[in-house]
Amino acid sequence: MPEITPLPTAMPTRMGSNSGQPVNRRDGLLKVTGRAPYAADARPEGMLHAVYAAATIGRGRVASLNVEAAKAHPGVVEVITPANRPPLAQDPDDKPGAFSFRVEVLQDDTVRYAGQPIALVVAETLEAATEGAALLAPTYEAEPVLAGLDLEPYVPESVGIGMPANVAKGDVEAGLASAVHRIEETYETPAQYHNAMEPHAIVAEWDGDRLTLDMPNQAPVMMAAGFAGWFDIPPENVLIRTPFVGGGFGSKAIMTGPQILTVLAAKMLDRPVKLVHSRKQMFGPVGHRGATRQTVRLGMDGQGRLTALAHHTIAATSSFDAFIEPAAASSMTTYASPALSATHVAVRNNIGTPGPMRAPGKASGTAALEVAIDEAAEACGMDPLDFRLANYAEADPMTGKPWSSKALRECYAEGAKAFGWSTRPLAPRQMRDTDGMLVGWGMGTAVFPCPMFAAEARATLRADGTGLVETSLIDMGQGAWTALAQIAADALGIDIDKLELRGGASDLPDGGIAGGSGHTATAGMAIKGAGSDAVAKLAEIATADPASPLFGAGNAGVVARNGRLHRADDDSRSEAYTEILARAGRSGVEGNGKGARDPSVAEDYALQAHGAVFVEVKVDPDLGQTRVSRLVGAFAAGRIINPHLARSQYLGGMIWGLSFALHEAAELDPRTGRIGNADLGEYHIPVNADVPSVEALLIPEEDAHINPLGIKGVGEIGITGTAGAIANAIHHATGVRVRKFPVRLEDLVTLM
Ligand code: MOS
Repeated sequence: MPEITPLPTAMPTRMGSNSGQPVNRRDGLLKVTGRAPYAADARPEGMLHAVYAAATIGRGRVASLNVEAAKAHPGVVEVITPANRPPLAQDPDDKPGAFSFRVEVLQDDTVRYAGQPIALVVAETLEAATEGAALLAPTYEAEPVLAGLDLEPYVPESVGIGMPANVAKGDVEAGLASAVHRIEETYETPAQYHNAMEPHAIVAEWDGDRLTLDMPNQAPVMMAAGFAGWFDIPPENVLIRTPFVGGGFGSKAIMTGPQILTVLAAKMLDRPVKLVHSRKQMFGPVGHRGATRQTVRLGMDGQGRLTALAHHTIAATSSFDAFIEPAAASSMTTYASPALSATHVAVRNNIGTPGPMRAPGKASGTAALEVAIDEAAEACGMDPLDFRLANYAEADPMTGKPWSSKALRECYAEGAKAFGWSTRPLAPRQMRDTDGMLVGWGMGTAVFPCPMFAAEARATLRADGTGLVETSLIDMGQGAWTALAQIAADALGIDIDKLELRGGASDLPDGGIAGGSGHTATAGMAIKGAGSDAVAKLAEIATADPASPLFGAGNAGVVARNGRLHRADDDSRSEAYTEILARAGRSGVEGNGKGARDPSVAEDYALQAHGAVFVEVKVDPDLGQTRVSRLVGAFAAGRIINPHLARSQYLGGMIWGLSFALHEAAELDPRTGRIGNADLGEYHIPVNADVPSVEALLIPEEDAHINPLGIKGVGEIGITGTAGAIANAIHHATGVRVRKFPVRLEDLVTLM
């Protein structure tokens, strides 16, 4: 029986301070009772359905579309093709802003990848739109597709979102030359597609030059500005509503062609239009994790200390835009070495443009690096944990900056203890289960940086002792509705039950992007700022009033607690809001916080969350089938606002890592240019039976620098290190080193 470690049994909604408590999801009841609205649930009066026809070749041009046949369908209202597409205010070749990608909006008849939209059919029903799209029966002039990583590479301008393609420190070649032990190996990671449970969807409705959109996304204010640009209307004329998101993982942080075409169709026909991606359409214009081939070179001295670390990545991008998986980058922040280099080149394929996908760069990069480190430990005859400790980075390896905090040593120790690592035999193929399965233990280091973005929030203390906090937060399942409510209640000095939190819409103060594992820190700091601002304003009123028991304290000497203001130095002197507000003749006091990080923090310190993942696998010696039987992760990410939700993020991340190691791969067929397994029947993700006992340990970590809340981020770190740890455990079980993800039974069985 698969078993998941039990949830904490006591779940108080409060205990003094709200932050730090395992508060249950505030939106949990809505979700489990099916009352939480998602974008595709929207059904405005007079709504039409849109379905896009997708190219079935990878490269060439559309020679013909049978528009007449589609239009003859009784339910079809309009067919939009490059021949009749109304103009857009923006050229698809322009990419305003850091987070915009070149999109396919029927600007021409060129096919750049299979799955690209080539026409949009709008109909009275979903069925009619689907049939209409099929009736288009396109013909093509096809050209040979660009597929795979063996094509001519180029050096990209940047990797990831604006990161340098090449960085180096010290003399790598000299470090390798002087090494006693050396390894040089090449690892491959496949294309992976986000496949959130909720497919991308949009419902667009125009009212004059005002646009309302129901759509999942990870940054509503930024997205509203994006749509405003495409349709030449002021950003404030766009309202995006996103109360709930069924998973985003980065793919809902980008604007896509089908979204823009749906908005265009709604404008053209002056009726609301809904478009929902089919599962198959999730493998195309909505981003993915690009395939990589990574070569890691490591040199070690006689004590197993690194003398050089070089990590080179060849990454696939599309033929028309660039998102380069920054896979080598995390090798610059993980282990101490006098010489380091991270380099990237890119190869153009006929694929949709890759994009950020949960732990972009770090997931693929640590999959290679952590196996290379295991190989290096083996070359030195050392236990993999001892080897990692021998190369512990006391300061940031690339810059030499001190860490703002780093409890990785504690993660290693606690994780190893919980797992029972100390009894691990050094040599592979030493352990067998009673049923003959080969048993192996492996580990990996998890790392993720701590970005913060700009954000704003508004806080109101109401006369009845309740509070209102507003920011365009996005909860895509990670728990923002709950964790940010905890921060908000603390900021206003009220009980969480007295707090109203508004989020998930673009007409609120900009809560920033829910991405980069930085949403809690980002929106949380804005909320904290707004809350303390509101309290301070209230205190100002009270302390200036000679009739108040708080008179003369100065607003810094006053704290808010449960609907009352207290003198910080004398708890018995307090006053309720209502009186103050009544005296002040106001109905509320607003604060308006801003949440970006003090830039000097990142100048003075290296900012990163850390963890250690330990894995047990069982491999069938005859069939090569691998089962992960135990997964233990220990993570340190600063102060944890909600241990219940953080644990859930870690578990989810590690399960993604398991999926990376053993399941997921999109297979691009070089003959057709199509992904041969664009569905969840053939594109494998783990089901419950594949997921064993998973345990996440929350390692305490105090960080006095990172931000005044002391929080890092927990969303993406769990996937990092895990895939490599599983591959290492497979090697330990079998003695076979597979350097291509996912590790498949055919690779194992032929080598065992
Ligand atoms: Mo994430 S890949 O920053 O949503």
